[in-house]
Amino acid sequence: MPVVHHAPTPTPVPAYAPSYERLLRQDPEMAEVILGEARRQADSLQLTAAENITSPAVLAALGSPLANKYAEGYPGARHHGGCELVDTAERIAVDRAKALFGAGHANVQPHSGSAAVLAAYAALLRPGDTVLALGLPYGGHLTHGAPVNSSGQWFHFVGYGIDERTGLVDLPQVRALAREHRPRAIVCGSISYPRHLDYAAFRAAADEVGAYLIVDAAHPIGLVAGGAAPNPVPYADVVCATTHKVLRGPRGGMVLCGQELAERVDRAVFPFTQGGAQMNSVAAKAVAFGEAATPAFSAYAHQVVANARVLAGALAAEGFLITTGGTDTHLITADPAPLGVDGRTARGRLAAAGLVLDTCALPYARGRGIRLGTAAVTTQGMTEPEMAAIAVLFAEALREGAENRRDVRARVRELAERFPPYGPLS
Ligand SMILES: Cc1ncc(COP(=O)(O)O)c(C=O)c1O
Repeated sequence: MPVVHHAPTPTPVPAYAPSYERLLRQDPEMAEVILGEARRQADSLQLTAAENITSPAVLAALGSPLANKYAEGYPGARHHGGCELVDTAERIAVDRAKALFGAGHANVQPHSGSAAVLAAYAALLRPGDTVLALGLPYGGHLTHGAPVNSSGQWFHFVGYGIDERTGLVDLPQVRALAREHRPRAIVCGSISYPRHLDYAAFRAAADEVGAYLIVDAAHPIGLVAGGAAPNPVPYADVVCATTHKVLRGPRGGMVLCGQELAERVDRAVFPFTQGGAQMNSVAAKAVAFGEAATPAFSAYAHQVVANARVLAGALAAEGFLITTGGTDTHLITADPAPLGVDGRTARGRLAAAGLVLDTCALPYARGRGIRLGTAAVTTQGMTEPEMAAIAVLFAEALREGAENRRDVRARVRELAERFPPYGPLS
């Protein structure tokens, strides 16, 4: 008798599937806020360097019933019952992260980038240890020793800086401070550095004094996934990252390390710094890692950098002072002073025109600067011609005059609506 192969029956999509109609009916007040935010994201340009636009598949995983599941512990060793399927979700996420970044071990549970950095410290350091990190005025993150952050209260941070002439990390100073202070760890990473960091040089500086090297790759990790930036994994003892910037996953963090540190890192995440993992987020990270492993994502990551380079060049032509004269990444920092405004005024005027970004510290300028990135607009499908147009809009938005700004706002809306993040809004 011939064997009849039946196609597997697809799992039917159940009635809980996210539905804005349902939310509108039940809670119109909150539905209006959420839909209003969706509209804001669609009719203005999201140039905040730390943001991106996740895929509908990532959003589906985030809004799934995995959000209901308690799962303290790790796959196969949970404190709760009923974890068989979320165990599978976490194993998939871990395997995909390891493959994507060539890491011996991955912990995908940190709730945020800060939680990932804190876990790295908890795995490697003791309170009172000395740590060398980029000083906050030069682009270090809060978790790199800010006095208002636990890192600054529990560890002795020494800050290295940026060379005033080049705008690049002052590597001779890193080495000199390492020899002087003999830190337990050196942290390499920034919230605003637009160039590739020299991981090999940091590794050598750490090795010379027997320090751990922690790379906080929160910003470039998505470019690393797409092959558009060097991978810190072969150099660092521990790499911490966010999953929501260029990587385009859900808001969250992860820690990558070799097998030899796996147990210490896992225990530093749970139970030392966190409780139950957010399994919907873990599943959404897995979906994002799956997307990031595709040729389409690699093309995206390279386009992000190409766009940032064109945007930096076009902003320079409009008179902005671009830190380091350009960028290797998604990120640009600039001093708008030659256009007659400081960073805070610029952010306000740009926001009024629908050009959304942050201010940032500029190491050697008098006022604050602006920090922007191309991850979200590139996800929307914008390429070099749109970057050139955006730079012109920047310069016009900074000019005095409410009428002028209304005109720029209309042109920004028109541009944004040609590239809707999730298709046309009904
Ligand atoms: C270098 C760096 N480290 C850590 C973080 C913290 O990430 P989160 O805001 O998810 O805690 C950020 C966030 O922008 C960052 O840029």
